[in-house]
Amino acid sequence: MQQALRTAASCLVKQELPELPYAYNALEPVISCAIMELHHTKHHKTYVDNFNIFQERLQKSIEDHDPTSIIQNFKALQFNGGGHINHTIFWRNLTPDQTQPSPELCKAIDANFGGMDEMKSILSAAAVGLQGSGWAWLGYDQVAQRMVVKTTNNQDPLEATTGLKPLLGIDVWEHAYYLQYQNVRPAYVKAIFDVVNWNDVSKNFAKASC
Ligand SMILES: [Fe+2]
Repeated sequence: MQQALRTAASCLVKQELPELPYAYNALEPVISCAIMELHHTKHHKTYVDNFNIFQERLQKSIEDHDPTSIIQNFKALQFNGGGHINHTIFWRNLTPDQTQPSPELCKAIDANFGGMDEMKSILSAAAVGLQGSGWAWLGYDQVAQRMVVKTTNNQDPLEATTGLKPLLGIDVWEHAYYLQYQNVRPAYVKAIFDVVNWNDVSKNFAKASC
């Protein structure tokens, strides 16, 4: 067991903050420049930095044969690694460009939800109704071969905690909208569909459903 953990620890890879594929002000007026800059350079960067720190701490706890510390560091890795994974998906899910879902994605949304408007309504209700901080997802269940709407708490990453493939994620932590929308989360959730990158969601769907 110790050898397996030691091997796992030696394979840990330092993560880096990815560049945004657009300027901080590109999603205005839906998401303000101030939110995007703060969200990317402070929040996401902190998840990346902490993930790297806790990788090193995990390595040390394994070397020290300290099971309590190993468990604590695994939990911190899930939170901060999830924050890194979730935000990396989120940035790609958004775009200032006008995009359209692929015919294949449209067909699957029709089959699974009854239409695009119905899917948006279910996903929005999940995002608005999530208590506390977390994410609302359009995910793909590869076993059932269908799309589902799911929420995750805090920074739990969708695939690692549920097995669902993430297609589209909506960040409903207050840091994602409070500076602009204050406590009106429904207004933020409604507006964000205006900047969804359907090319990216279609690509995610094609990869998940092949
Ligand atoms: Fe966030």
